[in-house]
Amino acid sequence: MTVPTEIPTVTLAGDVTMPMVGFGTWPMKGHQACEAVLTALRTGYRHVDTATMYANESEVGHALRESGLPRQDVFLTSKLRAADAGREREMLSRSLRALGTDHLDLWLVHWPPRGRASVSAWREMLALRDEGLTRAVGVSNYSLTLIDELVKVTGEAPAVNQIHWNPRRYDAGLLQGLRERGVVVEGYSPLKDTNLNDRVLTEIAWAHNATPAQVVLRWHLEHDIAIIPKSAEPKRIAANLDLFGFSLDPAEVARIDGLAAR
Ligand SMILES: NC(=O)c1ccc[n+]([C@@H]2O[C@H](COP(=O)([O-])OP(=O)(O)OC[C@H]3O[C@@H](n4cnc5c(N)ncnc54)[C@H](OP(=O)(O)O)[C@@H]3O)[C@@H](O)[C@H]2O)c1
Repeated sequence: MTVPTEIPTVTLAGDVTMPMVGFGTWPMKGHQACEAVLTALRTGYRHVDTATMYANESEVGHALRESGLPRQDVFLTSKLRAADAGREREMLSRSLRALGTDHLDLWLVHWPPRGRASVSAWREMLALRDEGLTRAVGVSNYSLTLIDELVKVTGEAPAVNQIHWNPRRYDAGLLQGLRERGVVVEGYSPLKDTNLNDRVLTEIAWAHNATPAQVVLRWHLEHDIAIIPKSAEPKRIAANLDLFGFSLDPAEVARIDGLAAR
């Protein structure tokens, strides 16, 4: 995969390279989803996050073809709905058809099926990965306990856990627990639930000639947390990728970590 040089990458199990910044696509649909993904790809994003539940996979596929980028240059994530556990093969082939590709880069269980780890779904996902239909498999919204159940039975940890993350949700123990298990952390909704007028963020933003939103996204990267911000606005799509002209020092990172305690 060729990734624009400034976007950092992380290596997932199986030697799969994932750009640390991706483009979130929920809740965009139809023309808006297609236009936004195309704008993101033209802006330099090389990682797109979709899901069966978002009902926009065909628009993501359309935008990918329209961009003219080679398939192997864009990291594609989709997700299995919890309610579709037991129909993994059928649902993955539907996602592939909608996206117009013969493989995903990452396929996640969207939520724990009926609140459980669902070892049977995990086994089937590993088998589909071994067949080459997705390069990596992972989970979303899983606790450490649920991940441990998967590992205990199959010996394989999810490559990624995609979880709700922002300064208010900062949890050093959870991060450490996931890292100890070799699970890469991907945060969702980094901006939506963050008070972008908070003084800590505005002061740090001012010091770096950046916006509070860029500071929040950069804070994730300082913690090695992959991000998938969504925007339908070309200016914000560009700003959310413009994170590499500055960095946060440990004291600034700690101040933002401290927002969780308030
Ligand atoms: N695994 C899961 O269960 C799960 C759950 C939720 C989301 N996700 C994924 O994570 C992605 C991101 O999460 P999200 O969409 O919930 O939240 P988000 O990316 O934190 O926030 C999106 C919202 O913030 C606005 N925004 C974007 N950039 C901004 C900026 N620079 N300054 C100010 N506002 C900005 C957007 O408005 P505009 O569009 O008008 O710019 C939109 O209203 C989703 O798109 C989806 O792919 C996964």
